[in-house]
Amino acid sequence: MRIGAIPDGAVERLGLMLGQLPTPIGEAMYAMPVARSLQVAQRTGILGALAEGPREPAELAEHLGLQPVGTIRVLDVIASMKHVAQRPDGRYELTRSGRKWLDPRSDTYLGDFLADTAYYWDWYAGLEDLVREGKHVELHEKGPEDPYWRSYIRGQYQLARLSSAEVAKAIPLAKGAHSVLDVAGAHGEFSMALCRRHEGLRATIVDLPGSAGVGEQIVAEAGMSDRVRYLVGDMFEIDYDGHYDGALCFNIIHHLSPEQIRALFARIRAVLRPGAPLCVLDLYDRPGGQRANLASVLGLFFHLTSGADTYTVEDVSRWMGESGYGKAEAKSFRRLPDLRLLIAKAV
Ligand SMILES: C[S@@+](CC[C@H](N)C(=O)[O-])C[C@H]1O[C@@H](n2cnc3c(N)ncnc32)[C@H](O)[C@@H]1O
Repeated sequence: MRIGAIPDGAVERLGLMLGQLPTPIGEAMYAMPVARSLQVAQRTGILGALAEGPREPAELAEHLGLQPVGTIRVLDVIASMKHVAQRPDGRYELTRSGRKWLDPRSDTYLGDFLADTAYYWDWYAGLEDLVREGKHVELHEKGPEDPYWRSYIRGQYQLARLSSAEVAKAIPLAKGAHSVLDVAGAHGEFSMALCRRHEGLRATIVDLPGSAGVGEQIVAEAGMSDRVRYLVGDMFEIDYDGHYDGALCFNIIHHLSPEQIRALFARIRAVLRPGAPLCVLDLYDRPGGQRANLASVLGLFFHLTSGADTYTVEDVSRWMGESGYGKAEAKSFRRLPDLRLLIAKAV
């Protein structure tokens, strides 16, 4: 049974119509409803309920305490992206790709990350202020009890799970390495992946209280609290408490200024054993400022959410050299297009 006034095929026809509009109009009109429908379907439980099995839309709306017309319209927009489909009997279900990313039982579930992007909606509402006046959002200044941290760090964890094994394999820890420092390590997934690979390795994560609290729970759920410990505090101030056979600095330097990056690398250098690698995973600009598609979108996002910028591999390699490390080597990953892992050894 169909509800409301949306005729069959209307969403597809809207897509076609928008496709015929001059490109900027089509893109502006399509991107907003698609993004918002996905966020709302996740946050209201629509996608979670569909993960349990096919549902008739009126019954689904009633079950979740939602409005039937709004529910079906959102479902139709998501169907146009092929994450859900309507069956001949009128019920909606997750498609194969929908089940892969949106079924909580899937190892590649990204539902918490999708829900977290609802915060981005408000931030992008401030884009004009960024461009006109340089006003940016400060991601990491919320109090530790703010529910934002759970949403943010669970989302980042789900994303990290997709690549952590491949990244861990590329990190050149010496045979018998027994300690690694993970600066701004948050959920701990990259540390846990290294520990899974290297018997006898223990990881120390440094992060702010809000993030560390969520990370400690994630590590405990994974049964790895005996291998991964947290030092809670600001990475520029806290004592790193020991000496290490390697260090990770993942997805953090795009939040920092060049001066802060050099200061951070030098602080890490002070606790690394000679020859131990510092590994910096991030999105890098291409020389000459050229950006690929994904990099241009992420570059804008990072600037909006920190006021800082992305840097070239050459710049970051030079800052490593100036902070007590040897020549840097860059590695790329199949699962992380546009990101690079820069590795340089403490001298
Ligand atoms: C984008 S997440 C990256 C998490 C993880 N390294 C990864 O690659 O998935 C950035 C992390 O940096 C942490 N962070 C930001 N500023 C920090 C600071 N001054 N001291 C310690 N951690 C900080 C945040 O709390 C957050 O957990």
